[in-house]
Amino acid sequence: MPVSDPAAAPGAPAEGAASHAPAFRPGLEGVPATQSAICDIDGRQGHLTYRGYDAAILAAQSTFLETAYLLIWGELPTALQLRDFEHEVQMHRRVSFRIRDMMKSFPAQGHPMDALQASAASLGLFYSRRALDNPEYIYGAVVRLLAKIPTMVAAFQLIRKGQDPIQPRDDLPYAANFLYMLTEREPDPLAARIFDACLIIHAEHSLNASTFSARVTASTLTDPYAVVASAVGTLAGPLHGGANEDVLAMLEAIGSEDQVAPWLDRAIAERQKIMGFGHREYKVKDPRAVILQRLAEQLFDRFGHDPLYDLARKVEEVAASRLGPKGIYPNVDFYSGLVYRKLGIPRDLFTPIFAIARTAGWLAHWKEQLGANRIFRPSQIYTGAVPREWTPLEAR
Ligand code: SDX
Repeated sequence: MPVSDPAAAPGAPAEGAASHAPAFRPGLEGVPATQSAICDIDGRQGHLTYRGYDAAILAAQSTFLETAYLLIWGELPTALQLRDFEHEVQMHRRVSFRIRDMMKSFPAQGHPMDALQASAASLGLFYSRRALDNPEYIYGAVVRLLAKIPTMVAAFQLIRKGQDPIQPRDDLPYAANFLYMLTEREPDPLAARIFDACLIIHAEHSLNASTFSARVTASTLTDPYAVVASAVGTLAGPLHGGANEDVLAMLEAIGSEDQVAPWLDRAIAERQKIMGFGHREYKVKDPRAVILQRLAEQLFDRFGHDPLYDLARKVEEVAASRLGPKGIYPNVDFYSGLVYRKLGIPRDLFTPIFAIARTAGWLAHWKEQLGANRIFRPSQIYTGAVPREWTPLEAR
Protein backbone atom coordinates (compact mmCIF):
# COMPACT_ATOMS: atom_id res chain seq x y z
CA MET A 1 0.00 0.00 0.00
CA PRO A 2 1.51 3.37 -0.96
CA VAL A 3 2.27 5.87 1.78
CA SER A 4 -0.56 8.38 1.66
CA ASP A 5 0.06 12.00 0.76
CA PRO A 6 -1.31 14.13 3.63
CA ALA A 7 -2.32 16.79 1.13
CA ALA A 8 -4.56 14.21 -0.51
CA ALA A 9 -6.20 13.16 2.78
CA PRO A 10 -10.00 13.26 2.87
CA GLY A 11 -11.21 16.80 3.54
CA ALA A 12 -7.96 18.50 2.48
CA PRO A 13 -8.47 20.93 -0.41
CA ALA A 14 -7.04 19.75 -3.72
CA GLU A 15 -3.96 21.65 -4.90
CA GLY A 16 -5.00 24.99 -6.37
CA ALA A 17 -8.55 24.75 -5.04
CA ALA A 18 -9.84 27.72 -3.01
CA SER A 19 -10.08 27.04 0.75
CA HIS A 20 -13.62 27.14 2.10
CA ALA A 21 -12.50 27.63 5.70
CA PRO A 22 -14.76 30.20 7.36
CA ALA A 23 -13.19 33.63 7.92
CA PHE A 24 -11.57 34.16 11.31
CA ARG A 25 -13.75 36.44 13.48
CA PRO A 26 -11.84 37.71 16.56
CA GLY A 27 -13.97 37.18 19.65
CA LEU A 28 -16.30 35.03 17.48
CA GLU A 29 -18.29 38.19 16.74
CA GLY A 30 -21.47 37.26 14.90
CA VAL A 31 -20.56 33.55 14.82
CA PRO A 32 -23.40 31.34 16.12
CA ALA A 33 -21.75 28.89 18.52
CA THR A 34 -24.91 27.16 19.68
CA GLN A 35 -28.66 26.99 19.28
CA SER A 36 -30.60 28.07 22.34
CA ALA A 37 -34.22 28.60 23.35
CA ILE A 38 -33.45 30.33 26.65
CA CYS A 39 -33.02 34.03 25.99
CA ASP A 40 -33.32 36.47 23.12
CA ILE A 41 -31.71 39.88 22.75
CA ASP A 42 -32.90 42.48 20.27
CA GLY A 43 -29.85 44.70 20.29
CA ARG A 44 -31.31 47.34 17.97
CA GLN A 45 -34.59 47.84 19.84
CA GLY A 46 -33.03 47.26 23.28
CA HIS A 47 -35.32 44.39 24.17
CA LEU A 48 -34.56 41.31 26.28
CA THR A 49 -36.74 38.23 26.74
CA TYR A 50 -36.33 35.08 28.86
CA ARG A 51 -38.16 32.11 27.32
CA GLY A 52 -40.30 34.64 25.46
CA TYR A 53 -41.20 36.76 28.50
CA ASP A 54 -40.10 40.39 28.67
CA ALA A 55 -37.33 40.62 31.30
CA ALA A 56 -38.72 44.00 32.42
CA ILE A 57 -42.10 42.39 33.17
CA LEU A 58 -40.37 39.56 35.03
CA ALA A 59 -38.37 42.09 37.07
CA ALA A 60 -41.61 43.80 38.08
CA GLN A 61 -43.86 40.77 38.55
CA SER A 62 -41.78 37.65 39.21
CA THR A 63 -39.29 36.55 41.84
CA PHE A 64 -35.75 35.40 41.22
CA LEU A 65 -36.50 31.77 42.02
CA GLU A 66 -39.57 31.75 39.80
CA THR A 67 -37.49 33.28 36.99
CA ALA A 68 -34.73 30.73 37.59
CA TYR A 69 -37.30 27.94 37.29
CA LEU A 70 -38.59 29.46 34.05
CA LEU A 71 -35.09 29.75 32.60
CA ILE A 72 -34.04 26.24 33.56
CA TRP A 73 -37.23 24.29 32.82
CA GLY A 74 -38.61 26.48 30.06
CA GLU A 75 -42.06 27.21 31.52
CA LEU A 76 -43.38 29.26 34.42
CA PRO A 77 -43.99 26.95 37.39
CA THR A 78 -47.43 26.19 38.73
CA ALA A 79 -48.08 27.36 42.29
CA LEU A 80 -47.30 23.84 43.55
CA GLN A 81 -44.10 23.50 41.50
CA LEU A 82 -42.90 26.90 42.73
CA ARG A 83 -43.70 26.10 46.35
CA ASP A 84 -41.76 22.82 46.14
CA PHE A 85 -38.83 24.44 44.34
CA GLU A 86 -38.59 27.29 46.87
CA HIS A 87 -38.82 24.79 49.69
CA GLU A 88 -36.05 22.60 48.24
CA VAL A 89 -33.76 25.59 47.73
CA GLN A 90 -34.44 26.78 51.25
CA MET A 91 -33.61 23.30 52.64
CA HIS A 92 -30.21 23.27 50.91
CA ARG A 93 -28.96 26.74 51.85
CA ARG A 94 -26.51 25.57 54.48
CA VAL A 95 -22.96 24.69 53.44
CA SER A 96 -20.81 22.05 55.09
CA PHE A 97 -18.60 23.18 57.99
CA ARG A 98 -15.72 21.73 55.96
CA ILE A 99 -16.33 24.31 53.23
CA ARG A 100 -16.64 27.08 55.82
CA ASP A 101 -13.36 25.90 57.39
CA MET A 102 -11.72 25.85 53.97
CA MET A 103 -12.91 29.44 53.40
CA LYS A 104 -11.38 30.47 56.73
CA SER A 105 -7.99 29.57 55.29
CA PHE A 106 -8.45 31.92 52.31
CA PRO A 107 -6.51 35.20 52.59
CA ALA A 108 -8.86 37.90 53.90
CA GLN A 109 -7.55 40.36 51.30
CA GLY A 110 -8.31 37.94 48.44
CA HIS A 111 -11.03 38.94 45.98
CA PRO A 112 -14.46 37.46 46.82
CA MET A 113 -14.79 36.24 43.21
CA ASP A 114 -11.72 34.06 43.69
CA ALA A 115 -13.15 32.80 46.98
CA LEU A 116 -16.44 32.03 45.23
CA GLN A 117 -14.78 30.21 42.34
CA ALA A 118 -12.81 28.00 44.74
CA SER A 119 -15.85 27.36 46.96
CA ALA A 120 -18.13 26.54 44.02
CA ALA A 121 -15.55 24.10 42.68
CA SER A 122 -15.23 22.51 46.14
CA LEU A 123 -18.92 21.49 46.03
CA GLY A 124 -17.85 18.91 43.46
CA LEU A 125 -15.81 17.18 46.19
CA PHE A 126 -18.96 16.66 48.23
CA TYR A 127 -21.48 15.86 45.50
CA SER A 128 -19.28 14.33 42.85
CA ARG A 129 -21.65 11.67 41.50
CA ARG A 130 -22.30 12.39 37.82
CA ALA A 131 -25.66 11.09 36.69
CA LEU A 132 -26.21 13.52 33.89
CA ASP A 133 -29.02 11.49 32.31
CA ASN A 134 -30.98 11.38 35.57
CA PRO A 135 -33.53 14.23 35.92
CA GLU A 136 -33.42 13.92 39.72
CA TYR A 137 -29.66 14.47 39.71
CA ILE A 138 -30.13 17.54 37.49
CA TYR A 139 -32.88 18.90 39.76
CA GLY A 140 -30.75 18.27 42.87
CA ALA A 141 -27.69 19.99 41.39
CA VAL A 142 -29.77 23.01 40.31
CA VAL A 143 -31.26 23.31 43.78
CA ARG A 144 -27.90 22.92 45.53
CA LEU A 145 -26.11 25.50 43.42
CA LEU A 146 -28.89 28.10 43.60
CA ALA A 147 -29.12 27.51 47.35
CA LYS A 148 -25.44 27.43 48.30
CA ILE A 149 -23.80 30.08 46.09
CA PRO A 150 -25.37 33.00 48.04
CA THR A 151 -24.49 31.36 51.35
CA MET A 152 -20.86 31.05 50.26
CA VAL A 153 -20.69 34.69 49.12
CA ALA A 154 -22.11 35.87 52.46
CA ALA A 155 -19.90 33.48 54.44
CA PHE A 156 -16.68 34.83 52.91
CA GLN A 157 -17.80 38.39 53.65
CA LEU A 158 -18.12 37.62 57.37
CA ILE A 159 -15.07 35.36 57.50
CA ARG A 160 -12.79 38.01 56.04
CA LYS A 161 -14.01 40.43 58.72
CA GLY A 162 -12.91 37.88 61.32
CA GLN A 163 -16.46 36.77 62.14
CA ASP A 164 -18.18 33.42 61.92
CA PRO A 165 -20.68 33.03 59.06
CA ILE A 166 -24.27 33.11 60.24
CA GLN A 167 -26.80 30.45 59.35
CA PRO A 168 -29.47 31.15 56.72
CA ARG A 169 -32.92 32.13 58.03
CA ASP A 170 -35.51 29.61 56.88
CA ASP A 171 -38.37 32.08 57.24
CA LEU A 172 -36.86 34.57 54.80
CA PRO A 173 -37.23 34.43 51.01
CA TYR A 174 -34.17 34.07 48.76
CA ALA A 175 -33.11 37.72 48.35
CA ALA A 176 -34.00 38.79 51.89
CA ASN A 177 -32.09 35.82 53.32
CA PHE A 178 -28.97 36.72 51.34
CA LEU A 179 -29.05 40.33 52.58
CA TYR A 180 -29.63 39.03 56.10
CA MET A 181 -26.64 36.63 55.91
CA LEU A 182 -24.49 39.49 54.62
CA THR A 183 -25.45 42.20 57.08
CA GLU A 184 -26.78 40.15 60.02
CA ARG A 185 -29.90 42.34 59.91
CA GLU A 186 -33.28 41.56 58.45
CA PRO A 187 -33.52 43.83 55.40
CA ASP A 188 -36.18 46.42 54.73
CA PRO A 189 -38.84 44.76 52.50
CA LEU A 190 -38.39 47.36 49.73
CA ALA A 191 -34.61 46.81 49.75
CA ALA A 192 -35.14 43.04 49.53
CA ARG A 193 -37.65 43.40 46.69
CA ILE A 194 -35.32 45.68 44.72
CA PHE A 195 -32.41 43.31 45.27
CA ASP A 196 -34.55 40.42 44.01
CA ALA A 197 -35.39 42.43 40.87
CA CYS A 198 -31.64 42.99 40.35
CA LEU A 199 -31.11 39.23 40.51
CA ILE A 200 -33.87 38.72 37.92
CA ILE A 201 -32.38 41.10 35.38
CA HIS A 202 -28.88 39.65 35.81
CA ALA A 203 -30.07 36.03 35.61
CA GLU A 204 -29.46 35.37 31.94
CA HIS A 205 -28.05 36.99 28.83
CA SER A 206 -27.58 34.45 26.04
CA LEU A 207 -24.05 33.49 25.00
CA ASN A 208 -22.03 36.01 27.00
CA ALA A 209 -18.44 35.03 27.86
CA SER A 210 -19.18 33.29 31.17
CA THR A 211 -22.15 31.39 29.76
CA PHE A 212 -20.06 30.32 26.78
CA SER A 213 -17.46 29.14 29.27
CA ALA A 214 -20.17 27.22 31.15
CA ARG A 215 -21.37 25.56 27.95
CA VAL A 216 -17.86 24.59 26.86
CA THR A 217 -17.22 23.06 30.28
CA ALA A 218 -20.64 21.36 30.25
CA SER A 219 -19.91 19.88 26.83
CA THR A 220 -17.16 17.70 28.32
CA LEU A 221 -19.81 16.07 30.57
CA THR A 222 -18.03 17.15 33.72
CA ASP A 223 -20.03 17.90 36.87
CA PRO A 224 -22.19 21.03 37.27
CA TYR A 225 -19.98 22.43 40.05
CA ALA A 226 -17.06 22.58 37.61
CA VAL A 227 -19.40 24.22 35.08
CA VAL A 228 -20.34 26.98 37.52
CA ALA A 229 -16.78 27.37 38.82
CA SER A 230 -15.44 27.91 35.30
CA ALA A 231 -18.19 30.45 34.61
CA VAL A 232 -17.46 32.34 37.85
CA GLY A 233 -13.81 32.65 36.82
CA THR A 234 -14.84 34.03 33.45
CA LEU A 235 -17.36 36.49 34.87
CA ALA A 236 -14.71 38.01 37.15
CA GLY A 237 -12.84 39.89 34.42
CA PRO A 238 -13.21 43.68 34.03
CA LEU A 239 -14.49 43.38 30.45
CA HIS A 240 -17.39 41.25 31.75
CA GLY A 241 -19.03 41.17 35.22
CA GLY A 242 -16.08 42.85 36.91
CA ALA A 243 -16.90 46.16 35.22
CA ASN A 244 -19.58 47.06 37.79
CA GLU A 245 -16.91 47.50 40.45
CA ASP A 246 -14.78 49.66 38.17
CA VAL A 247 -17.68 52.01 37.32
CA LEU A 248 -17.80 53.40 40.86
CA ALA A 249 -14.02 53.86 40.87
CA MET A 250 -14.35 55.75 37.58
CA LEU A 251 -17.10 58.02 38.94
CA GLU A 252 -14.98 58.78 42.00
CA ALA A 253 -11.97 59.52 39.79
CA ILE A 254 -14.06 61.97 37.74
CA GLY A 255 -15.13 63.63 40.99
CA SER A 256 -17.52 66.38 39.85
CA GLU A 257 -19.89 67.17 37.02
CA ASP A 258 -17.66 69.90 35.56
CA GLN A 259 -14.89 67.31 35.17
CA VAL A 260 -17.02 64.86 33.18
CA ALA A 261 -16.39 66.26 29.69
CA PRO A 262 -12.60 66.78 30.08
CA TRP A 263 -12.20 63.39 31.78
CA LEU A 264 -14.12 61.56 29.05
CA ASP A 265 -12.33 63.41 26.26
CA ARG A 266 -8.96 62.48 27.71
CA ALA A 267 -9.95 58.84 28.29
CA ILE A 268 -11.34 58.50 24.76
CA ALA A 269 -8.24 60.18 23.25
CA GLU A 270 -6.10 57.67 25.17
CA ARG A 271 -8.33 54.87 23.80
CA GLN A 272 -9.33 53.78 27.30
CA LYS A 273 -12.50 51.73 27.69
CA ILE A 274 -15.21 53.62 29.55
CA MET A 275 -16.39 51.12 32.15
CA GLY A 276 -20.07 50.23 32.06
CA PHE A 277 -20.33 51.32 28.42
CA GLY A 278 -20.50 49.30 25.21
CA HIS A 279 -21.87 45.90 24.39
CA ARG A 280 -21.33 43.33 21.66
CA GLU A 281 -25.08 42.81 21.24
CA TYR A 282 -26.66 46.20 22.04
CA LYS A 283 -26.22 49.17 19.78
CA VAL A 284 -28.63 51.16 22.00
CA LYS A 285 -28.82 51.57 25.78
CA ASP A 286 -29.01 48.21 27.53
CA PRO A 287 -32.64 47.76 28.69
CA ARG A 288 -31.32 46.44 32.01
CA ALA A 289 -29.56 49.78 32.62
CA VAL A 290 -32.95 51.50 32.26
CA ILE A 291 -34.51 49.12 34.80
CA LEU A 292 -31.58 49.54 37.20
CA GLN A 293 -31.97 53.31 37.07
CA ARG A 294 -35.62 52.98 38.07
CA LEU A 295 -34.65 50.65 40.92
CA ALA A 296 -31.92 53.06 42.06
CA GLU A 297 -34.40 55.95 42.04
CA GLN A 298 -36.88 53.96 44.16
CA LEU A 299 -34.12 53.31 46.67
CA PHE A 300 -33.09 56.98 46.71
CA ASP A 301 -36.71 58.06 47.30
CA ARG A 302 -36.84 55.82 50.33
CA PHE A 303 -33.33 55.93 51.77
CA GLY A 304 -31.88 59.21 50.52
CA HIS A 305 -30.18 60.40 47.35
CA ASP A 306 -26.68 59.48 46.16
CA PRO A 307 -24.79 62.32 44.46
CA LEU A 308 -22.76 59.75 42.50
CA TYR A 309 -26.00 58.99 40.63
CA ASP A 310 -26.14 62.59 39.33
CA LEU A 311 -22.54 62.21 38.22
CA ALA A 312 -23.35 58.93 36.48
CA ARG A 313 -26.24 60.53 34.60
CA LYS A 314 -23.95 63.37 33.55
CA VAL A 315 -21.42 60.80 32.26
CA GLU A 316 -24.19 59.12 30.28
CA GLU A 317 -25.34 62.48 28.85
CA VAL A 318 -21.85 63.64 27.84
CA ALA A 319 -20.83 60.19 26.52
CA ALA A 320 -23.90 60.12 24.26
CA SER A 321 -22.36 62.71 21.92
CA ARG A 322 -18.89 61.11 22.00
CA LEU A 323 -19.67 57.37 21.93
CA GLY A 324 -23.35 57.22 20.91
CA PRO A 325 -22.58 57.57 17.19
CA LYS A 326 -20.54 54.32 17.49
CA GLY A 327 -23.47 52.56 19.19
CA ILE A 328 -21.78 52.67 22.60
CA TYR A 329 -24.22 53.28 25.46
CA PRO A 330 -24.51 52.28 29.14
CA ASN A 331 -24.67 48.53 29.73
CA VAL A 332 -25.99 46.54 32.71
CA ASP A 333 -22.87 47.27 34.75
CA PHE A 334 -23.20 51.06 34.62
CA TYR A 335 -25.97 51.59 37.18
CA SER A 336 -25.96 48.29 39.12
CA GLY A 337 -23.16 49.40 41.45
CA LEU A 338 -25.18 52.47 42.48
CA VAL A 339 -28.07 50.23 43.53
CA TYR A 340 -25.81 47.89 45.49
CA ARG A 341 -23.98 50.82 47.10
CA LYS A 342 -27.31 52.19 48.35
CA LEU A 343 -28.08 48.75 49.77
CA GLY A 344 -24.85 49.00 51.76
CA ILE A 345 -23.10 46.21 49.85
CA PRO A 346 -19.27 46.38 49.69
CA ARG A 347 -17.92 47.14 46.24
CA ASP A 348 -15.99 43.92 45.72
CA LEU A 349 -19.19 41.92 46.27
CA PHE A 350 -20.90 43.47 43.23
CA THR A 351 -19.53 40.83 40.87
CA PRO A 352 -20.22 37.89 43.23
CA ILE A 353 -23.82 39.14 43.34
CA PHE A 354 -23.86 39.09 39.54
CA ALA A 355 -22.65 35.46 39.85
CA ILE A 356 -25.46 34.57 42.30
CA ALA A 357 -27.98 35.76 39.70
CA ARG A 358 -26.23 34.37 36.64
CA THR A 359 -26.03 30.90 38.22
CA ALA A 360 -29.64 30.52 37.03
CA GLY A 361 -28.62 31.23 33.42
CA TRP A 362 -25.51 29.04 33.61
CA LEU A 363 -27.62 26.15 34.89
CA ALA A 364 -30.22 26.67 32.16
CA HIS A 365 -27.43 26.49 29.56
CA TRP A 366 -25.87 23.46 31.30
CA LYS A 367 -29.17 21.61 31.06
CA GLU A 368 -29.76 22.71 27.47
CA GLN A 369 -26.24 21.69 26.47
CA LEU A 370 -26.72 18.22 27.96
CA GLY A 371 -29.94 17.89 25.98
CA ALA A 372 -28.12 18.02 22.63
CA ASN A 373 -24.48 17.68 23.52
CA ARG A 374 -21.49 17.71 21.26
CA ILE A 375 -18.12 18.63 22.74
CA PHE A 376 -16.91 22.12 21.76
CA ARG A 377 -13.75 21.81 19.77
CA PRO A 378 -13.36 24.68 17.30
CA SER A 379 -10.49 24.90 14.86
CA GLN A 380 -7.74 27.49 14.72
CA ILE A 381 -5.67 29.22 12.11
CA TYR A 382 -2.08 28.30 12.84
CA THR A 383 0.28 31.30 12.69
CA GLY A 384 3.42 29.74 14.20
CA ALA A 385 6.78 28.61 12.81
CA VAL A 386 7.01 26.26 9.83
CA PRO A 387 8.55 22.85 10.67
CA ARG A 388 12.20 23.31 11.62
CA GLU A 389 15.24 21.34 12.78
CA TRP A 390 15.88 20.66 16.47
CA THR A 391 18.94 22.58 17.78
CA PRO A 392 20.80 20.80 20.61
CA LEU A 393 21.16 22.90 23.77
CA GLU A 394 24.95 23.28 23.43
CA ALA A 395 24.54 24.66 19.93
CA ARG A 396 22.09 27.44 20.90
C1 SDX B 1 -21.22 42.42 30.61
O1 SDX B 1 -22.00 39.70 26.58
C2 SDX B 1 -22.83 39.94 27.50
O2 SDX B 1 -24.00 39.72 27.36
C3 SDX B 1 -22.22 40.48 28.79
C4 SDX B 1 -23.19 41.01 29.85
C5 SDX B 1 -24.01 39.88 30.47
O3 SDX B 1 -25.11 40.15 30.98
O4 SDX B 1 -23.50 38.76 30.52
O5 SDX B 1 -24.07 41.98 29.33
C6 SDX B 1 -22.41 41.62 31.05
O6 SDX B 1 -20.16 41.86 30.49
C7 SDX B 1 -21.39 43.89 30.31
C8 SDX B 1 -20.09 44.53 29.73
C9 SDX B 1 -19.22 45.02 30.89
N1 SDX B 1 -17.94 45.53 30.41
C10 SDX B 1 -17.63 46.84 30.36
O7 SDX B 1 -18.47 47.70 30.69
C11 SDX B 1 -16.23 47.16 29.95
C12 SDX B 1 -16.23 48.27 28.92
N2 SDX B 1 -16.82 47.82 27.68
C13 SDX B 1 -16.06 47.18 26.74
O8 SDX B 1 -14.73 46.90 26.89
C14 SDX B 1 -16.71 46.60 25.50
O9 SDX B 1 -17.72 47.45 25.07
C15 SDX B 1 -17.25 45.16 25.66
C16 SDX B 1 -16.19 44.23 26.23
C17 SDX B 1 -18.48 45.14 26.55
C18 SDX B 1 -17.65 44.66 24.25
O10 SDX B 1 -16.50 44.52 23.50
P1 SDX B 1 -16.48 44.26 21.90
O11 SDX B 1 -17.81 43.96 21.39
O12 SDX B 1 -15.37 43.29 21.65
O13 SDX B 1 -16.07 45.67 21.33
P2 SDX B 1 -14.58 46.21 21.12
O14 SDX B 1 -13.85 46.22 22.42
O15 SDX B 1 -13.95 45.44 19.99
O16 SDX B 1 -14.84 47.69 20.69
C19 SDX B 1 -15.32 48.05 19.40
C20 SDX B 1 -15.07 49.52 19.22
C21 SDX B 1 -13.64 49.91 19.51
O17 SDX B 1 -13.36 51.08 18.76
P3 SDX B 1 -12.57 50.99 17.36
O18 SDX B 1 -11.25 50.32 17.68
O19 SDX B 1 -13.43 50.17 16.45
O20 SDX B 1 -12.42 52.42 16.95
O21 SDX B 1 -15.86 50.25 20.19
C22 SDX B 1 -14.98 50.91 21.10
C23 SDX B 1 -13.64 50.21 20.95
O22 SDX B 1 -12.58 51.05 21.34
N3 SDX B 1 -15.52 50.67 22.46
C24 SDX B 1 -15.38 51.51 23.47
C25 SDX B 1 -16.03 50.93 24.55
N4 SDX B 1 -16.55 49.75 24.17
C26 SDX B 1 -16.23 49.59 22.88
N5 SDX B 1 -14.78 52.70 23.56
C27 SDX B 1 -14.80 53.30 24.76
N6 SDX B 1 -15.41 52.78 25.84
C28 SDX B 1 -16.03 51.60 25.76
N7 SDX B 1 -16.62 51.08 26.84
